[in-house]
Amino acid sequence: MAERVYIFDTTLRDGEQAPGYSMNLDEKIKMAKTLEALGVDIIEAGFAISSPGDFESVKAIAGAVENVTVASLARALKKDIDAAWAAVSQARKPRIHVFLATSDLHLEYKLKLTRQEALERIRENVSYARSLCDDIEFSLEDATRTDLDYMCQVVETAIDCGATTINLPDTVGYAVPGEMSNMVSYVKSHVRNIDRAVISMHCHDDLGLAVANTLAGIQAGARQVECTLCGIGERAGNAALEEIAMLLKTRQDALGFETGINTREISRSARLLSTTTGVKIFPSKAIVGANAFAHESGIHQHGMMANSKTYEIMTPESVGVSQTSLVLGKHSGQHAFSKKLAELGYTVTKEEEDRLFAEFKKTCDRKKTVSDRDIVALVESTEETESRTWALESFVVNSGNHMDSTACISLRKDGKIYKDVAIGTGPVYASLRAVEKIIRHPFSLDDYQLQAVTENRDALGEVLVKVSDASGTYRGRGVSTDVIEASILSTLSAVNKMLGGKDSPFARGQSASSMSFENDMLMDHTDKSEA
Ligand code: KIV
Ligand code: ZN
Repeated sequence: MAERVYIFDTTLRDGEQAPGYSMNLDEKIKMAKTLEALGVDIIEAGFAISSPGDFESVKAIAGAVENVTVASLARALKKDIDAAWAAVSQARKPRIHVFLATSDLHLEYKLKLTRQEALERIRENVSYARSLCDDIEFSLEDATRTDLDYMCQVVETAIDCGATTINLPDTVGYAVPGEMSNMVSYVKSHVRNIDRAVISMHCHDDLGLAVANTLAGIQAGARQVECTLCGIGERAGNAALEEIAMLLKTRQDALGFETGINTREISRSARLLSTTTGVKIFPSKAIVGANAFAHESGIHQHGMMANSKTYEIMTPESVGVSQTSLVLGKHSGQHAFSKKLAELGYTVTKEEEDRLFAEFKKTCDRKKTVSDRDIVALVESTEETESRTWALESFVVNSGNHMDSTACISLRKDGKIYKDVAIGTGPVYASLRAVEKIIRHPFSLDDYQLQAVTENRDALGEVLVKVSDASGTYRGRGVSTDVIEASILSTLSAVNKMLGGKDSPFARGQSASSMSFENDMLMDHTDKSEA
């Protein structure tokens, strides 16, 4: 019988903390529901004290998911624990995740605490957290550079005070697998009450060893692993959820562990992260990169044709990459389209399906066959434009190599048509200028990415933009066989969020409650008044 390893996902906390991965409230809720469907056991939804935005999103996620534990991070300070509890207490399964650094380096230079003072801080705050909530995790930040005997004292104290999970992070990604396994074995054999807690791994990838170190920890006795989708996180990131889940599944024969992850949801979850944040997945990324199941060399292709096991240790289907040959085209009816949506894992209302089918038919007029990847791109870009204020009615662009480009654009708003013309050095520039003139709201274009959804010449073009005004930065996404149309659609999607007052993931709002928030995530643990 395989032994169960619990998956603690921190995409929305350690992951979201990384530059470029910020999400707004709606995006975080959608991500949390996706993680629930993926089968993670615990979602670390944020760091409640850090900002009103984080507090609100942890609280909203606590109310939005059912079958998964929702955790909030908290420093070992009463005010942090109060905020964390206020944010997660409505969850069906709440957890408070308290942490304090324990290495001499952090104690001396960052916290300015002696080992004894830190121990007292832990005793007081873990006990306090446990008085509020039954499920308490305590993390020894920088555990891998902490003296082992002091670590055992800390762990024993935290468990005596009510911690039910003990996390031993490799905060700076410094450890090597042998050291991880020694650390866990040492704690297991030297901590009197260790059988009352689950040991957890939280490994950063600074030396590219996050997954290897996590595995070493599991083999030595850890039963919870902290990870993120696509390995996003501070600096070089965290251990990648999809790699750990597929490692334990594919090599269950050798390792003997299992997780609750529904691996067929992996690809979709990673794609959602990428489309939400606008950060592309590296093509060679294990499990979820576009090339993870591609076989280019002739020798490999020959082997694959004879028996796919020659070069494939897991199937694309097992991670949710559909390989079906059922391609839809202009003769496909709504029934086939609806079946395809279900096959791709989308549950949509009749109204949404009708709207998507209309988009699909428009695409069929321009493109002979519509692949699964095209449909996924259409569904996801249509979601983007759901609550549109400004919609594209029509456009004409004139462009050439010895002239300025001109764009004449018509937009629709509340049933009325608005038109304008603009000149620019290129067709995208001219189009965006025309949009700006029509909506009468200046914005700047901070990022623009264009890529083909599939390989063929008639591929759909997908454009991701970031636009900003004084209120913040907003992302947008558009898909079309015409890249200028995709550019206009993506800009409108971002601009609609901007004008609709949608929470910008890049402009954290001001205090929404009576709680005081700490914007400096570098932790003022030196706040001795709380000690
Ligand atoms: O890397 C780390 O040590 C952390 C802790 C707060 C768990 O993220
Ligand atoms: Zn971390």
